[in-house]
Amino acid sequence: MRIMGKVSKMQDLCGQIKSEGKTIGFVPTMGYFHEGHLSLMKRARKENDFVVASIFVNPTQFGEDEDYDIYPRDMERDVEQAKDVGVDIIFAPDVDEMYPRDYDTFVEVRELTEIMCGESRPGHFRGVTTIVCKLFNIVLPHRAYFGQKDIQQALIIKKMISELNFPLDIRILPTVREEDGLAMSSRNTYLSGEERRAALALPRSLDMARFMMENGERNCHRILSAVREIIKNEPLARVDYITLRGMDNLREMAVIEGPAVVAVAVRIGRTRLIDNLIWGEISCLG
Ligand code: PAJ
Repeated sequence: MRIMGKVSKMQDLCGQIKSEGKTIGFVPTMGYFHEGHLSLMKRARKENDFVVASIFVNPTQFGEDEDYDIYPRDMERDVEQAKDVGVDIIFAPDVDEMYPRDYDTFVEVRELTEIMCGESRPGHFRGVTTIVCKLFNIVLPHRAYFGQKDIQQALIIKKMISELNFPLDIRILPTVREEDGLAMSSRNTYLSGEERRAALALPRSLDMARFMMENGERNCHRILSAVREIIKNEPLARVDYITLRGMDNLREMAVIEGPAVVAVAVRIGRTRLIDNLIWGEISCLG
């Protein structure tokens, strides 16, 4: 496995791989790997000749009062784990390499970024789309892999690559969970023991939504009330949003008709956690 840090060398190498007729699967990450990240790399390994994973804690997607400085980092462990799942190249540039002095170009998807996580994290998705766009132009992948855990992010990126005509496929893979149901996240390391237990209100509330939908409930208000009730019963939890939206455009609705997503964002102490449940068949998933 090679570890690269320079944009031009990375771009040359990927261009060369592509010109040999080989396919490149790409997994963009901010590092501190867990099984969620590794599941994307394993899938990329199965579907491509070459697998690239990037590790870059992207400053432009963090708000000023957010956790950029304390975001967990462990390059050595990440490198070992990536090697074990068959990654060929790790791209881990410095901040100056990605954003040289006077950097001033941004990529923005509009409506989809103004709702849900975009409301409480203004500018966040603009940072995500900008860095992902840059990474796609450097790595030149045939396929890129994202987690359902960050469903809004994945749908925004899908829209961006479609509207900006990037010649690549986006795959969205299921959320990997801890044994007790908590969605894996690098940010789970921030939780104290008591907060970790409180965080289980998220998967529990989504289980309730699934149970209701499986039993024929289609009224969004009733489903959301039940989800809210479960989270409200957890004293350490403060709701950021609880929402039920159509999967194609993330619009709210009164009654579930097609594929839909129940999404929750909750603060447990100082940690903001998100989770979601998708209802119905979606072609880009899996
Ligand atoms: P990061 O949070 O490191 O996540 C990298 C990828 O792993 C994302 O596609 C995310 O959805 C996926 N992922 C995270 N937790 C997961 C889980 N429990 N199960 C399955 N997949 C999971 O998302 C980012 O980084 C950044 O915003 C990035 C896209 C790299 C741009 O900076």
